Amino acid sequence: MSGRGIQVRNCLSGFAALLLAIAFVISPEPSFAQQTRDTVQQENPVEGQVPGNTLGEASDTDLWRDIRHGVTGNVSIPDKKAGTLVQSEGELWRSLRNGPLALYASWAMLGMIVLLCLFFAIRGRIRIDHGMSGVTITRFNGFERFGHWMLATSFIVLALSGLNVMYGRYLLLPLIGPEAFGFVTLMGKYLHNYLAFAFMAGLAIIFIMWVRHNLPNRTDVKWVLVAGGLFSKNVHPPAKKFNAGQKVIFWLVILCGVSISLSGWALLFPFTTHFFSDTFVLANNLFGTELPAPLAPIQEQQLNSLWHSIMAVFLICVILAHIYIGSIGMEGAFDAMGSGEVDLNWAKEHHSLWVEEVEQKESGAASRGAAQPAE
Ligand code: HEM
Repeated sequence: MSGRGIQVRNCLSGFAALLLAIAFVISPEPSFAQQTRDTVQQENPVEGQVPGNTLGEASDTDLWRDIRHGVTGNVSIPDKKAGTLVQSEGELWRSLRNGPLALYASWAMLGMIVLLCLFFAIRGRIRIDHGMSGVTITRFNGFERFGHWMLATSFIVLALSGLNVMYGRYLLLPLIGPEAFGFVTLMGKYLHNYLAFAFMAGLAIIFIMWVRHNLPNRTDVKWVLVAGGLFSKNVHPPAKKFNAGQKVIFWLVILCGVSISLSGWALLFPFTTHFFSDTFVLANNLFGTELPAPLAPIQEQQLNSLWHSIMAVFLICVILAHIYIGSIGMEGAFDAMGSGEVDLNWAKEHHSLWVEEVEQKESGAASRGAAQPAE
């Protein structure tokens, strides 16, 4: 070959190498969609299909279906969670919360109100059978009433503001319009966040004050056997400071209250707790269940949110019955938490053993006082 031919060939191959180098440098990174498609194909090969995109592009429908079911892509930013385009459990959480949960919760609360109305219509107000005596006895001291009302008022505001989040857009928004509804909901959110602490404090106070009076004992059996005389006149089973029905209320308030507080805490301080993961691991170890654990942080949040609502609605139903019997349902009951003084006949009919204890204590104190030698 002549020297000129060699020159031309060298020149051509140099040019081709340059073109190749340029093509290599400027060739675009595979797009996110392409990367995801590859991941989808590698992780979920259709039956019989060789992984690695050997049969050409997967259809967009397949791609989006997989993304919809939580397939994760790669991201170069530190927050790797951004690689999940659609978190499907979020959709499940949303549809459960806005569907069956909201529906059954409303039935439960309405059902309880209807039951109480029926009870009132049939039984009427439970009267003091022996009439008012005009003599009173101290039932709850100032600190006991303070603890009760701190718990009660915070719970009522928490319940109303929580129900507004669940049903407000259907019930309140059409009534008061978007501006007022926005304001009410925002204020409700602040109250909900801050009064949660008053609720927890109230819960702790009543637990410490009343736990010893709420331990089950034999008199509870007698009380339960006649349903506390709630359905029959002139039936008054003996009871100490709290009867069996009140003990049930007390423990439901404590257990549900703690459960609502823990799940509420997890919602107030997101991604800092793993109550559900821990509980599931414990249940799997103890009972051999196969509950999913550990859970992703977002799944923890979703379960906390559902649990918080379920427990809160359950406790609202219980408390509706409690408020009824502590106010219009029973003559003389409210005074116990109002002034703290109840009529002696009311006390003898509903808490006869407690009256005996108080009278014994008082007469013991009086006789000790009388036995003091004169100075
Ligand atoms: C307007 C609302 C309320 C009224 C009128 C009310 C009334 C009463 C009354 C009169 C008692 C004393 C009963 C007795 O002398 O034996 C009582 C006790 C109690 N209350 Fe309330 N209450 C209300 C709200 C609440 C709330 C919201 C809670 C908890 C979240 C609560 C928890 C308790 C507990 C645990 C007791 C002691 C156990 C029992 O008596 O059942 N109360 N309440």
